[in-house]
Amino acid sequence: MTVSARKRLQPQPPSANGRVFSSSDRRDLLTIEALPAETIIGLLDRSDEYLKSLIATGPFQKSKLLEGRTIVNLFFENSTRTRTSFELAERRLGGDAVTISPAASSLTKGESILDTVHVLEAMKVDAFVVRHSASGVPAFLAKHLPPHVHVINAGDGAHEHPTQALLDAAELRAALGNLRGKRIAIVGDITHSRVARSNMWLLKKLGVHVTLVGPETLLPPSVGEVFGVAVSHNIESVLAESDAIIALRIQLERQSRGLFPSIEEYRERYGLTIQRLARTRAIILHPGPVNVGIELDHEIASHDRSFMLRQVKRGVAVRMAVLEWIFSN
Ligand code: NCD
Repeated sequence: MTVSARKRLQPQPPSANGRVFSSSDRRDLLTIEALPAETIIGLLDRSDEYLKSLIATGPFQKSKLLEGRTIVNLFFENSTRTRTSFELAERRLGGDAVTISPAASSLTKGESILDTVHVLEAMKVDAFVVRHSASGVPAFLAKHLPPHVHVINAGDGAHEHPTQALLDAAELRAALGNLRGKRIAIVGDITHSRVARSNMWLLKKLGVHVTLVGPETLLPPSVGEVFGVAVSHNIESVLAESDAIIALRIQLERQSRGLFPSIEEYRERYGLTIQRLARTRAIILHPGPVNVGIELDHEIASHDRSFMLRQVKRGVAVRMAVLEWIFSN
């Protein structure tokens, strides 16, 4: 991010109405950290219902749940799965979905994010779905929007990606049953992964034993103590015991310097190879996009223990459940 872009993100009150709203007045989905376990389970249950309607053959019967509601998807970072699944979820629930690409908006003319959001709000927008490379942007916007305008975090920096963790948990639960006591390893670039953070919060709330696996340079110091999870630098040590393995993308775009000697060495030490798959009964998840041949081998993507396409399908169902919950306040 450029210095001027960073500056525009500083909490500033240049907005038209300048009010700041307290979190108790509002219903948003900003983090998994703040979400009680009962709410998480309720959302997973509803996503099971929505998934049934999505896998039925024939044309999808749109619901009227969001009729008259307008949702703006503000994606400041590239996205295929998350953006498209939010749009589909909004439309399938009968809402009007508008997606704004900052490169084609007045943000390029120097308007701040907050002013842009207030301009859109004036057009009677009911919710913003926000993805941004800086942690905290969705929470910052929620603080400056009136309570009837909701904010959903679609991934902020290396902080959280709540809907990804919900869809991962829904697929884990569908495959493994009750998750309490299950062993799940998260492998790869933990330092830069918002998916890892949301997953750690969520899986801990549901009683899972989580082990993070990666080189020291990709694991933040004290992450084990902060999240109450185990840490290992050796993937071989978790293969036999894991019920599921969540592989993460190496986020080269967020790494300012080389954090491991070479891609080949990373694959050698931490990659999910077909040989390693033979030494575990775990199911394999990956949020995508995948660096094929680095985090995992090409053959694994199409293996019957690979959950990647199921995760994509579940993404729409989970986002429908989240939108229903947001607007049922
Ligand atoms: C993730 C993201 O954007 O955080 N992808 C996704 O939402 N499907 C993970 C990633 O980019 O590696």
